Amino acid sequence: QSPSTHFYISPEVPAKILKIRPKYGHKGSFGHALLISGSYGKMGATVLSSRACLRSGVGLLTVYCPAVGYNILQTAVPEAMTLTDPEDNYTSQLPDITTYNAIGIGPGLGKEAATRELVSKLLETTKVPLVIDADALNIISENENFKKSIPEGSILTPHPKEFERLAGKAQNDYYRLTLLKDFCQQHNCYVVLKGAHTCIGTPEGTYYFNSTGNPGMATGGTGDVLTGIITALVAQQYSPLEACILGVYLHGLAGDLAKANLGEQALLASDIVSYLGQAFLTLN
Ligand code: APR
Ligand code: MG
Repeated sequence: QSPSTHFYISPEVPAKILKIRPKYGHKGSFGHALLISGSYGKMGATVLSSRACLRSGVGLLTVYCPAVGYNILQTAVPEAMTLTDPEDNYTSQLPDITTYNAIGIGPGLGKEAATRELVSKLLETTKVPLVIDADALNIISENENFKKSIPEGSILTPHPKEFERLAGKAQNDYYRLTLLKDFCQQHNCYVVLKGAHTCIGTPEGTYYFNSTGNPGMATGGTGDVLTGIITALVAQQYSPLEACILGVYLHGLAGDLAKANLGEQALLASDIVSYLGQAFLTLN
């Protein structure tokens, strides 16, 4: 492969992507994101994802979750609006999705039959590309028709196991990158293959390797934080590639800043959210 298809995300790359917030900007200028996330016992994923989304500059955030999440969300994330499915589990009914600039789906979602239907309806009706993570990816992986209906320009954020379910088993890392490229080209989407060296694959067949992050981030919920960040960036009209690059870089950098103060062992996913502001500041 020619070297020009591989890029390294050094600090000047995200610095060029970051947009200045216009002085007369208002909530409407920075997009309205929808996060479809959470289920019984996994509302923490939604809390983390929502807080990360709000800390990444989005104008407005609405969360759609089952009724079980209502009090949790309204208490833990007062800045988010909460829309609930009437039951404690998803009932397959999709909210009105016409008003959102970006839709993220997956963290803590679960894989109940009705939840699969919810994902199916979303794939059929969405007019905006999706940010797809965790169980939404697992649901899509199980059905070839779902894979074919991934909206063009969507961003998928699998960890290696989720990627294997989606695109198949790889004997080695090099072959995994080939699978990544093929998947992105075939489905016209962007895939953020997460790990110590997170790699973004694009429909153009290029690769972007992240330079930030540390093993302290190998702890539950850090992936949910990334989903929130990327969804916020898409809502703010960053292109899918820009949202992926800026998102993985800031996520890893917030993790590195947290590590500098807390060390790796004590690092929590919520610390990454807390350090997002400082991560953004390094780009100004
Ligand atoms: N170095 C740098 N970054 C790392 C490292 C490391 N050694 N280990 C993990 N990370 C980063 C990854 O790049 C990724 O952004 O932490 C994040 C981990 O994301 P996930 O694997 O999705 O983990 P998370 O979502 O927090 O797990 C919670 O959700 O996706 C499901 O199956 C998953 O049950 C799990 C749940
Ligand atoms: Mg995850």
